[in-house]
Amino acid sequence: MRDYAKLQKDINKTLGIDLTAYKEQQMRRRINQWLDRHKLSSYEDLIRTITSDREHREKFVEYLTINTSSFFRDARVFDVIEDVVLPAVSKRGRPRIWSAGASIGAEIYSIAILMKEARFTPGMLLATDIDEAVLEKAKAGVYLPSQINGIDPQYLEKYFTQTEKGNWAIAQSLKDMVVFRQHDLLKDPYERNFDLILCRNVFIYFTTDTQRRLITNFVQSLNPAGYFVVGSAEQIMDPTSFGLQRVSYCIYQKPA
Ligand SMILES: C[S@@+](CC[C@H](N)C(=O)[O-])C[C@H]1O[C@@H](n2cnc3c(N)ncnc32)[C@H](O)[C@@H]1O
Repeated sequence: MRDYAKLQKDINKTLGIDLTAYKEQQMRRRINQWLDRHKLSSYEDLIRTITSDREHREKFVEYLTINTSSFFRDARVFDVIEDVVLPAVSKRGRPRIWSAGASIGAEIYSIAILMKEARFTPGMLLATDIDEAVLEKAKAGVYLPSQINGIDPQYLEKYFTQTEKGNWAIAQSLKDMVVFRQHDLLKDPYERNFDLILCRNVFIYFTTDTQRRLITNFVQSLNPAGYFVVGSAEQIMDPTSFGLQRVSYCIYQKPA
């Protein structure tokens, strides 16, 4: 019998990841798949391996936290961000924007491209993630062809160069616009005064109680009239109970 409660404690101790906040069934299934794939016989075996083998540990964190992302993911949402949200927040001054659970940085760089194109100047573009290894990838800014699928060819030509291996490296001018920081949404304090927060395809993995706690934190971090953007599977059924108004598909706003 695999003791999941003990594993939760051991993972928190060795990796600092609080599994109790994540949906149990889904996490158990993923971890069991990892054990099968790596021929590990037990949770104890897993903990031993991640303690002694750094590469295995990094790969496991990457697997556990699910880093899938891409540029301009969900065009329907990015159209509204481009046409409504960025003009609105930029009219009020230099907007502070936070991509929480930023993964490889594709989301925040998509915002940076739109800001540059519209000649808007950000006060801050912050990208945070729990996974330090994925943040290193975001800082390096080199992407596989599959990750740049959503990019308009004009932007690709303007802001990327192709590497010898056929990958795509993002322009230094975009990298310079973004601050990357390690941050655990479950444990670390939330910075305040943002005009736009994107947290997409992140809290889908958390329990309902945790999701509600996180949304409350995000709303506190928003300036009046600030926008909050979630993933398509994370739409908020009762936005008013968090003090939010629905603006459009996946996009909410705090009253002015
Ligand atoms: C599926 S990616 C989403 C990336 C991007 N937001 C998007 O929609 O394309 C989920 C990200 O959430 C991060 N994550 C998971 N748990 C987290 C936590 N407790 N705190 C901060 N980030 C977390 C993962 O490391 C991963 O990079």
